[in-house]
Amino acid sequence: MYTQLEQRGMPEPPVNVSTLRKMKHDGEPIACLTAYDASYAVLVDVAGTDVVLVGDSLGMVIQGHDTTVPVTVDDIVYHCRTVARGLRRAFLVADMPFMSYTKPGLALDNAVRLMQEGGAMMVKLEGGDDQVEIVEHLARHDIPVCAHLGLKPQSVHKIGGFKVQGRDPDKAQQMLASAKRLQDAGADIVLLECVPNEAGRVITEALEVPVIGIGAGPDVDGQILVLYDILDITQGRTPKFVKNFQAGCTSPRSALEAYVREVKDRTYPAPEHCFS
Ligand code: KIV
Repeated sequence: MYTQLEQRGMPEPPVNVSTLRKMKHDGEPIACLTAYDASYAVLVDVAGTDVVLVGDSLGMVIQGHDTTVPVTVDDIVYHCRTVARGLRRAFLVADMPFMSYTKPGLALDNAVRLMQEGGAMMVKLEGGDDQVEIVEHLARHDIPVCAHLGLKPQSVHKIGGFKVQGRDPDKAQQMLASAKRLQDAGADIVLLECVPNEAGRVITEALEVPVIGIGAGPDVDGQILVLYDILDITQGRTPKFVKNFQAGCTSPRSALEAYVREVKDRTYPAPEHCFS
């Protein structure tokens, strides 16, 4: 875990929300990855990743569940604390699990746990217009928020599977309107999952805050992928946007460096990783 003293002495200071806004402004792609433990957090950090998410994807890749629904706040706090110990420069975001933010007070209590016990610097929640009040409440208490739109894995049982969102022009418009409302409510980042390139581009151009994509095409401000997917640890069918960066690399560290390089020079995502 970094300290104020270390921060002052570091050649590259830790990433914060201002850094991320400046990167958007300067057109520098933001490289993001998930991590779930201290050892991988060290590797992800030294590879140059800007943002690390302790995602509720841990329910699938760590705990072996079929969905993210069983993950609890205690689970995220535990993994977040371990990841925080491994980071020096990257900005740490923690997912708010299923049903942990149904009311403003509950959301605030759980966000405070993720920050105080877990060491997170921002919380991420899935939602659209229904979450505007929650985001406002968190922002009013100076909790940085990432709003996750598009495919919302916590809603998988309601949606009926992991499907591309926003192909219908009306739905894409609604997503854009929700993104703006969430930004106005105080969201500091918008994350878009599994949307056509065009929706990714339009929403990114319309917002002042950084937009991070996962399967949202090349025209967003940054990319995020699940760590175990890009290291070829995840077995079976992976989503179209996943690229195996371990192929051709001799170590996990070199695979992570290849990922950061390809995000920064915009060679990832290639057309085969995108939705139209
Ligand atoms: O839980 C997670 O890892 C996520 C990413 C897939 C964005 O939300």
